[in-house]
Amino acid sequence: MTEEKMIRTFICIELPEGLKKKIGEIQAQLKHYSAGISWVRPQNIHLTLKFLGDVEEQRLPDLATAMGEIAARYSRFTLIPEGPGVFPHARSPRVFWLGIREDTGTLAHLQEEIEERLEELGFAREKRAFRPHLTIGRVRPYRKPKELTPAFLTIGFAADPFEVDHITLMRSDLKPTGAVYTPLRVINLQ
Ligand code: 2AM
Repeated sequence: MTEEKMIRTFICIELPEGLKKKIGEIQAQLKHYSAGISWVRPQNIHLTLKFLGDVEEQRLPDLATAMGEIAARYSRFTLIPEGPGVFPHARSPRVFWLGIREDTGTLAHLQEEIEERLEELGFAREKRAFRPHLTIGRVRPYRKPKELTPAFLTIGFAADPFEVDHITLMRSDLKPTGAVYTPLRVINLQ
């Protein structure tokens, strides 16, 4: 019996180059406090809509079809980059992020529809509420970034709103040197 190949995947919104560059500048400003932090490479930063984990390769076409059906019903929308935050809370942060705002409800609807449709295809629903964010750094196990947290939470960050015209089914390969992301399918909105 041949073993089915598994591919680690997630669905996300890719960011404009200018925004990734700006995020890289923020990370550089904070390098001084970086002990115990693993920064996400700016090229890898994205807005996750749904993390799927390991998916059998043969299921990818159905997944892409479902995503296409959803995307065809959404017009382009605008995302607004916002200031910093941490998960789960400032006393003991694990994830450093920049917020993303969307003022019409379209992003939340799109994300909810992806959850619903993919649940029908057998992918477990995310139990946590959707909090749109761009993870820019993660705290390494057993480390506590005492100085970074206040510096990060008070840093000024402003970037231009940007238009979303597609969503991406992304492959994630975890390598010792960090995650390598490869777009598997780019699915255009209406
Ligand atoms: P995060 O940015 O909040 O960590 C690829 O790993 C993307 O999928 C990341 O943006 C990550 O969100 C998201 N994700 C959600 N659940 C995950 C999980 N259980 N393991 C890894 N990544 C997850």
